[in-house]
Amino acid sequence: ATEMVQVTPFLLILGMVLVAPGYSAKKCVLTGSWTNDLGSNMTIKAMDENGNFSGSYNTSVSATENKILESPLWGSQHWPNMTTQPTFGFTVNWSFSDSVTVFTGQCFVDNEGKEILKTMWLLRLHVADIKDDWKATM
Ligand SMILES: *[C@@H]1O[C@H](CO)[C@@H](O)[C@H](O)[C@H]1NC(C)=O
Ligand SMILES: *[C@@H]1O[C@H](CO)[C@@H](O)[C@H](O)[C@H]1NC(C)=O
Ligand SMILES: *[C@@H]1O[C@H](CO)[C@@H](O)[C@H](O)[C@H]1NC(C)=O
Ligand SMILES: *[C@@H]1O[C@H](CO)[C@@H](O)[C@H](O)[C@H]1NC(C)=O
Ligand SMILES: *[C@@H]1O[C@H](CO)[C@@H](O)[C@H](O)[C@H]1NC(C)=O
Repeated sequence: ATEMVQVTPFLLILGMVLVAPGYSAKKCVLTGSWTNDLGSNMTIKAMDENGNFSGSYNTSVSATENKILESPLWGSQHWPNMTTQPTFGFTVNWSFSDSVTVFTGQCFVDNEGKEILKTMWLLRLHVADIKDDWKATM
């Protein structure tokens, strides 16, 4: 499981809550910049009215020896405008290796008002032969 937190400082969020009239429960907004405790960073761009979004991922860890490059991602958020802690999924198309990672998770607001993504992922590595299929997903 991976946990990512919004980079936006808490006070800025608080300010936004205070200026938004009629805003009762704080909403977890996927759009923005995220970082995890391994030092990987992700940016999610604005999402459309269907909850589709794109973005990019800078991983700090890799299963390959290749030089790590920023990689594009595409995803979908459920009920973009009707829930405060939405579920989502996205795919990262790694630019530097022959592999793909899928993430699924939920955007939460914790007790301190901090936005956190709780995710699980699966990484598919490329193998040359179907006989190596057993070791290709992690
Ligand atoms: C990834 O790193 C590059 C180079 O440091 C930077 O320009 C880019 O904004 C970063 N992207 C994300 C999603 O953090
Ligand atoms: C959510 O967005 C859809 C599509 O834009 C719209 O039809 C619907 O009325 C919106 N619902 C709420 C609660 O804002
Ligand atoms: C966004 O979602 C809608 C509805 O699921 C789909 O028809 C559309 O192709 C998607 N757009 C993009 C850019 O993925
Ligand atoms: C993510 O951002 C932090 C803070 O800016 C930086 O120290 C780190 O190197 C970045 N990680 C990657 C993989 O770009
Ligand atoms: C996926 O990654 C490969 C390798 O970097 C790239 O050639 C391809 O254009 C990417 N796909 C999309 C839809 O960007």
